[in-house]
Amino acid sequence: SRTYRIAPSILSADFARLGDEVRNVIDAGADWIHFDVMDNHYVPNLTFGPMVCQALRKHAVKADGTPVPIDVHLMVQPVDALAQAFAKAGADIITFHPDASTHVDRTLQLIKAEGKQAGLVFNPASPVDVLEWVIDKVDVVLLMSVNPGFGGQSFIDSTLRKAEKVRKIIDDSGRDIRLEIDGGVKVDNIRRIADAGADTFVAGSAIFGQPDYKAVIDAMRAELAK
Ligand code: DX5
Ligand code: ZN
Repeated sequence: SRTYRIAPSILSADFARLGDEVRNVIDAGADWIHFDVMDNHYVPNLTFGPMVCQALRKHAVKADGTPVPIDVHLMVQPVDALAQAFAKAGADIITFHPDASTHVDRTLQLIKAEGKQAGLVFNPASPVDVLEWVIDKVDVVLLMSVNPGFGGQSFIDSTLRKAEKVRKIIDDSGRDIRLEIDGGVKVDNIRRIADAGADTFVAGSAIFGQPDYKAVIDAMRAELAK
């Protein structure tokens, strides 16, 4: 069976206490920290940049000091300079939207050359055809199950069919590629999303909207164990 990863999105955390929020959600069982970068250009919202990632790097550790991967989701245009800046700022995984990059293969190469995992993100209405040509450079496929820009939106159901399709593409490639889903993931739909082929789950409001992060993450894992 698959190894599942839960990646809380700190977009829904308390921005005035981000370091503590990252530590708390890791203590609650987070596998990755999902870091949503918005530029008020590619998406209609503005969040944080490489300096905030660098400041959080030392907080993204388990109690025993083991680093927890920072999963940087770039919703920015242009992509390349910021992808490199995030690599230098301690990101472990860097994903970007192919429609925001002028040269998708080049951007993937830049991220790989920094020694980081690279991924492509597909919006709900975007085709995934480009995967055919770059799958050898991809470590993560991130499917948006909401339109990017805001937390707290409802899961778009067509993502399940897209996940099934991408799962086949990944399995046929024979490569070790994570299939991550982002947007509207909750305790009550995570099992269905896993059944469609996903192995990595971003959840923002579902986790940070509750007082007990561990209770939510435990409930998600219990669903995934069914
Ligand atoms: C949306 C972001 C998501 C968002 C998910 O543009 O990419 O990561 O934070 O938030 P929820 O889980 O609340 O839908
Ligand atoms: Zn995201």
